[in-house]
Amino acid sequence: MKIGFIGCGNMASAMIGGILEKGICSKQEIIVSNRTVEGNERSKKNLGVNVTLDNCQVVRETKTVVLAVKPQFYEEVIAQVKGLITEKHVIISIAPGKTLRWLEEKFGKPVKIVRTMPNTPALVGEGMTGVCANSYVQDIEMAGIKEILGSFGRYEVIPERLMDVVVSVSGSSPAYVFMFIEAMADAAVADGMPRAQAYEFAAQAVMGSAKMVLETGKHPGELKDMVCSPGGTTIEAVRQLEKGGFRSSIIEAMKACVEVGRKM
Ligand SMILES: NC(=O)c1ccc[n+]([C@@H]2O[C@H](COP(=O)([O-])OP(=O)(O)OC[C@H]3O[C@@H](n4cnc5c(N)ncnc54)[C@H](OP(=O)(O)O)[C@@H]3O)[C@@H](O)[C@H]2O)c1
Repeated sequence: MKIGFIGCGNMASAMIGGILEKGICSKQEIIVSNRTVEGNERSKKNLGVNVTLDNCQVVRETKTVVLAVKPQFYEEVIAQVKGLITEKHVIISIAPGKTLRWLEEKFGKPVKIVRTMPNTPALVGEGMTGVCANSYVQDIEMAGIKEILGSFGRYEVIPERLMDVVVSVSGSSPAYVFMFIEAMADAAVADGMPRAQAYEFAAQAVMGSAKMVLETGKHPGELKDMVCSPGGTTIEAVRQLEKGGFRSSIIEAMKACVEVGRKM
């Protein structure tokens, strides 16, 4: 399978890392385009894939094309390449806010489009991707796309109306989790733990807790209650977190994230 990426920054690099790792295709079967020579040098050095400055070359040489530029460049890039898109191409969007209908309108003809929202933990094979497709995409093509998405983590096929929610709960959420880890580590450092050790403790606690949610199937509230002994240390920390509006500030932040995504 040959895969092309128009734009190869953080997200495309994370996806390509998984694709290569799982052997979905070889470096020779991937071609990426960047806007600058520096971008191409970065892709060549870090990923060893074929590079070009010509977005049309990506479309000419591959049938599966990921649009991996920032949302504000989607229109410009689609205008450049749409004349070369055939019924054999499958276009994968990874941008927030760009609906299947918007994308179809910009291509101006029937085009197979898969809309996805991945996240950067793809870099370590632990991504989470929401995916939906338009009616032109056939089951066999969708199976190929799922294989690609599965190479860098989990994926869920979802109704398109939930895609903006995926932006906040998955696409953007690694940033909030990194902030949480940083804050926990800062507190540990304040109480005397060396910084490198503090990051290790905090990150491992987050990873282990996430695994418990995914693997036990227990409600997160029940798992929280299991840590809170009566009159103990944890319930005191929980009390302070609630005083600071911990859950509410996450909920409000994520609602703001969804709103911005919808307007993109
Ligand atoms: N980062 C995330 O966590 C994340 C998560 C989910 C979805 N996404 C989505 O993924 C997409 C890419 O985001 P990113 O974070 O990977 O961005 P990024 O790191 O800024 O990379 C953007 C890439 O696009 C290239 N580019 C810009 N204009 C171009 C053009 N006209 N033709 C070809 N290449 C062009 C840039 O090339 P140069 O380096 O040469 O300028 C760069 O390689 C966005 O739509 C974003 O919303 C990102």
